[in-house]
Amino acid sequence: MKILAIETSFDETACAIVEDGMKVISSVIYSQIALHKLTHGTVPEVAARAHVGKIIPVVEEALFQSQLSIADIDAIAVTQGPGLIGSLIVGVTAAQVLAKMWGKPLLAVNHIWGHLYANFLGREQLPDLPILIISVSGGHNDLVLLRKHGEMELLGQTQDDSAGEAFDKAARMLDLSYPGGPEIEKLAKLGRPGHFQLPRAWLQQVPTGLRPKEIHDFNFSFSGLKTALYTLVQKLGPLDEQVRADLAYEFQESVFDVMTTKLFGAWEKYRTPSVFISGGVSANQRFRSLAIEKFNQADTAVFYPTKLSYCTDNAAMIGAAAFFASKKVTDPVLEPDPSLWN
Ligand code: KG4
Ligand code: ZN
Repeated sequence: MKILAIETSFDETACAIVEDGMKVISSVIYSQIALHKLTHGTVPEVAARAHVGKIIPVVEEALFQSQLSIADIDAIAVTQGPGLIGSLIVGVTAAQVLAKMWGKPLLAVNHIWGHLYANFLGREQLPDLPILIISVSGGHNDLVLLRKHGEMELLGQTQDDSAGEAFDKAARMLDLSYPGGPEIEKLAKLGRPGHFQLPRAWLQQVPTGLRPKEIHDFNFSFSGLKTALYTLVQKLGPLDEQVRADLAYEFQESVFDVMTTKLFGAWEKYRTPSVFISGGVSANQRFRSLAIEKFNQADTAVFYPTKLSYCTDNAAMIGAAAFFASKKVTDPVLEPDPSLWN
């Protein structure tokens, strides 16, 4: 089954054609990052207007690169939510028009499910279920058990900011540009361990200075870490390059220490054959290597998306989620849903 998928929930205008949920025939992403660098973050109306200008060109380009004709496409899929309402409307409207014009079924996809399924893209073999997935981006920070296709159990999520959001804000504090994740990762490589100590939010009772022996709270919180970094930066005054690198290092360690420890804690409970890390933050090499190191002792495979472009927002993941776990739209109108989770 060949699905043409559209994604416009945030600040990427994307279209892809995916076969049977795993084979990416074409994937085109127009990133608005250059536009949002000017404001150190995304301004919703600016994002929506930029989608309007790019939606038709990315659909045309995805079709062109696939060398398929419209007759070869079996269905149209689109992100229904969550996301920015103005951005979602552009993709949902375009998908509805195409489905109607071309006489194809329309499939509504949850963006977060897209990130969960991004790990299926480009694989030869279907991963065994159940799978424990940590999916982390700018807008969400979820620990999920995928029991069966389309059947997720949300084990934990952030109580405030996502790690991606914390990376973006921390980068601002360290005078780095947007998006902050890749910038912090680069600077942290020059950082020295042990020069600063930032807190870890375990969200369960742990004696000061100790680590939890067993994890039973799978939720996350990163706002305290953000504030701790801010307070430290204010106290230190003007920062030289080495100090900024040491702070970036410790910030990154704090985020990934908590995330990999909680992921492992969940695995000890559910013992899945493999674990997935996904979402924009899964592009981070330090996150990947800490997770691999942790699961080595358990002889359990850690999967991350086969391409960096499948970590951050893209339409191929929407095509994958549409194939494995989407709802066919039966009402005449598909309403975008900015607060949709499951
Ligand atoms: O999935 P995504 O493209 O968009 C959302 O759905 O939010 O994720 C973007 C987020 C940003 O917060 C960005 O800073 C973060 O992912 N990110 C990273 C890295 N690359 C992107 N965070 C840490 N390390 C990275 N290498
Ligand atoms: Zn996303």
